[in-house]
Formats: sequence, C-alpha cells, structure tokens
Amino acid sequence: MVELQLGENSMSDGGKIKGLQHGLTNYGDKDFSLYLRRSFAKSMGYSDEMLERPIVGIINTASGYNNCHRGMPELVEAVKRGVLMRGGLPIDFPTISLGEVFLNPTSLMFRNLMAMDTEEMIRAQPMDAVVMIGGCDKTVPAQLMGAASADLPTLQLIVGPMMTGRYEGERLGACTDCRRFWADFRAGRVNEGQIGQIEGNLATTMGTCAVMGTASTMACIAETLGMTLPGTAAIPAVHADRLRAAEATGAQALETARQGLTPAKLITKKSVENALRVLLALGGSTNGILHLTAIAGRRGVKISLYRLNELSDTTPVLINLKPTGVGYMEDFHTAGAMGALLRELQPLLHLDCPTLTGETLGERLAAAPGYVDRTIIRARDDGFEDVGGLVALFGNLAPGGAILKRSAADPVLFEATGRAVVFTSLEDLAERIDAEDLDVKADDILVLQNAGPKSPSGMPEAGYIPIPKKLAQAGVKDMIRISDCRMSGTAFGTIVLHVTPEAAAGGAIGLVQNGDEIRLSVSNKSLELLINNSEIERRRQANPPRPAVPTRGYAKLYADHVTQADQGADFDFLMAPN
Ligand code: FES
Repeated sequence: MVELQLGENSMSDGGKIKGLQHGLTNYGDKDFSLYLRRSFAKSMGYSDEMLERPIVGIINTASGYNNCHRGMPELVEAVKRGVLMRGGLPIDFPTISLGEVFLNPTSLMFRNLMAMDTEEMIRAQPMDAVVMIGGCDKTVPAQLMGAASADLPTLQLIVGPMMTGRYEGERLGACTDCRRFWADFRAGRVNEGQIGQIEGNLATTMGTCAVMGTASTMACIAETLGMTLPGTAAIPAVHADRLRAAEATGAQALETARQGLTPAKLITKKSVENALRVLLALGGSTNGILHLTAIAGRRGVKISLYRLNELSDTTPVLINLKPTGVGYMEDFHTAGAMGALLRELQPLLHLDCPTLTGETLGERLAAAPGYVDRTIIRARDDGFEDVGGLVALFGNLAPGGAILKRSAADPVLFEATGRAVVFTSLEDLAERIDAEDLDVKADDILVLQNAGPKSPSGMPEAGYIPIPKKLAQAGVKDMIRISDCRMSGTAFGTIVLHVTPEAAAGGAIGLVQNGDEIRLSVSNKSLELLINNSEIERRRQANPPRPAVPTRGYAKLYADHVTQADQGADFDFLMAPN
C-alpha cells in the first residue's frame, strides 16, 4: 500500500499529516486495514482524490435537546466549505451534546462524560485537525477539556449568543431576565398571565444565553486561550459573520495542523492567567473558575484561589453586561468585543502566548484598534469596578476556598455577621423555603448543605437560593446565601458558592446548625463559622457524612472519581500530573 502523497503537508514540528492512514483499525495487517477503510469510505461516494487529502474532523453537537445549538447544520456546512477551500477533507461526527435545561440532575454531571467522549473520538478516528463546535454552558469546557487531553491541533468554534426579545416595550434576554421576572412573580409583582407571556419572549432565537453567563464567559475564555479565531467569541448566532467565522475556522484548520499548534502549546500557565484576567474583567460567571480549573488541570496547570485573589485585586471590571451591568452579548459584539477588552487589559497580560493562527496574543493586539463603545467596554483606568468580579473566601467554613461573585452582589452585605438558617438538602430547601412558619429574618444567612460535587445532585446551579417568599413579598431583594453547589452565570445576589470541602466530603458546611453565627468579610476574604474548632470536630465525629453512593453506571464513576470544586470537579484519573 502506497503512503499518501502529502509532502507539502508536513507539520513544521516534523510531524506528518496522515489523512486516512491516521490510527488504523487493528486487524493485524496494516495494508488490509487501510484497504478496508478506503473501501468503506468509498461507499460514501468519496473519490480517490478526496481520500488522499488531509482530514479535518468537525464535532457536530446538534441535538433536539439543545436549543442553543439549533444553528449547527449551517455551521457544519460553513466549516466544511472552509476546509475544502484549503484542500482538506472535512468529516463531521457527533458527540454528546449538553442542553443546559434538559438534563437531570444537572448538566455539570455530564460535562466530564462529554469531555471523555470528545477526547476519545478525536483520538480514535482519523483526522489531522479538529474543529469543535460548541456553545451551551457545559459544552465549551467539556470540549476544551477533551481536546487538551487528546492534544491534536484543535480549533474551537462557538455557536454564538442569542439576540434579545421584547416584552411590553422592555428588552429581554435569557437568562438574567428569566430570574428577575420569576422573583417578581414569587413576590406577587407579576401575575400568572404576564409570566406566561414573558416565558414566550425570553429566548427567541437560536444561540446561547444572551448575557455574560457561563456560555458567554467560556466563549471569551476560549478566545483568550487562543483556541478560537480572534474576534469570534461574541458574534451573535444569527449574524452572517457567525457563518463567515465558521468558514474561516475551517480554512484555518490545516494551517494550525501544519504549524503543530496543539492545545499543549496554547493552554499554558501564562494563557490560563490571561484567561483568569479576562474572567475577572468580564464580571464573568462563577462557573468560569470551575471550568477553567478543569481545563487547565488537563494540561497540568494548577489554579490557586489565592492567586485568583491577587489577580482579582488588580483587575478592574470593564464590561457592562448583565447580570452585573445592563447590556447583552449583542451589545458586546458591536461595542468591540474581545479585541477591545484584550487591548484594555494588554499591560496585565502575557503577550507572548501563541494562538491557533500562529500569531502571539501581542501580535494580534498590535493590529489597529477598531471602534469601541465605551458604554459597554470601559477603559482600564475607568472600570465599572476597581477590582475583579470574583473573589475567593477562606476560613474554617471553607478551608479549601469558596467563591463570591462580588460584582453581582450587594456591597451592603459584604461585611456581615448573621444567624444561620440551614437547609440540609435540596429537597429540604424545596419543602420549607416558602413555609409561613420558617424562622427567618432578612439579616439571617441561608445555608444549603449537601449539594456539592459528590452529593446525589452533583453540584447543581441551586446556589441561587430563593429569598423566602414572605421576605420577598416584604420587599427583601438580597440575602447572604452559602452553599457547596453552583449558581447560573446569569444570576445575581450575595451568594457564596463552591464551598470546599463540601458537606458530602466532611466539610464544615455540613456541620452548621440553625442559629450558629457566620461571619462574611469580603475585605478580609474570609468566611467563618463562629464556633470553636473543638465543637466543629465534636460535630464531625458525631455526624460523619453518609452520602448515598450509586452502585452502577456513570453515576458511580462520577461519585467515585469527581474532585472537589477547587480542582474543577474533573475526574481524578483524567487530570494531568502537575
Ligand atoms: Fe444554553 Fe443558556 S441554555 S447557554
């Protein structure tokens, strides 16, 4: 069997593009394996000429359960066009797709499964480069985690955010407005007929949530890591530029492969720090730190929450988008998008990081700046906040750290001591939060236990504990809320999340009792349970955690191997040694 004639396609690092010969199926006879592969490929109508081309795999994450990815067929076609234009053979293939609101108990539980699917299918099938198309919350981190481990030349293409809609003259976008109107409905300010109409106007186009939630945050992080084409993170899903970005990504793929630009070269300690700066300047999602930790962990880069605080204290919030500000992703796109933000942050960034085009970040930013709308993207010395959006808290309640999105919280609550009102599980929370006889006041601190990564609920976005109905109806809009779970990137409030270790792993959060005092100090970056350590230890001995342990399937794999939030809730056996 003759080697494919791909001399001009040699990778610059000495590797060879192998096309269809990549990773042959093992039948004990290589020539037979290639003959059989070509024969079966020909059954799909490919010519010899096409089968001799280098191959670009395209990960197609269309799913009837993923509204955000409704534009996938057009995107796949546009990527294929770009690949063909440069002499490659594009082949799309499916992986798991995670539609945020269709998954039980929570999409996070399946992020690691999608990452494994992504990694293994990249590795097992013949391709010289891969374009991963994703967007909805967990899909981009899952794909980046898988790609970081597979380490083939990889380009991420984002599906893009939704456009906003209108309700009675007011502009709406998923999903910060979903929560705002739901809070109004609970408080009796919006009636049943109105909430029904609002429901039909919150998400009206394809694409990901319209605000700087988790999906948008992760898109911006992917661009900062150099894993997407520059300027593509924020293009709306319905915009023609989104299809041009897809075509250009396909056209770039083989060049990225020829330069040998694999994730190992792009996802480094420096690029991860750049991504942290961007996360902080965006006022981005709390989920962003969890996902970035998991992605970095696949390349052996450890994110310290103490380092996060150092960066946060020196990174202003520059973006005026919901949930921390007023705009939507379509505004960010027209305001100058990531190019404008990165230029503002330039003195704080490592500019020698390479990107998938072969340019360094510094070279990319040396191009002439375009128009910038300063109502959406502020100058560095004129930030919306002087410090970054996220802060890590430490103390006897969270020895491994906890996360507060201070840019989406009420500063009045930043230095407070309050009485704990404890809910022992999500079921207990659902049962009692609106009870008339719940003993709760506005200056109490709501604590939700047993909702972390190892809990049966798998760390859902339940940290946005609702304000008890009787307080909401009395006009209370925010309270301190603490849990070992997550919250949606589209939510707001003084909400402490990702408490580590979690209750199910023996963390002190599981030992808090009604009436205990808790002190939150954002200035000291501390979270303390105001009882002495011997009492904490006594309670731990008297009440060791007994999480329900699944006995089979993926749920068992998850429970046995998921790490704590400070390690990204990845599986321990998938992380690279650091
Ligand atoms: Fe897909 Fe929000 S539901 S990004």
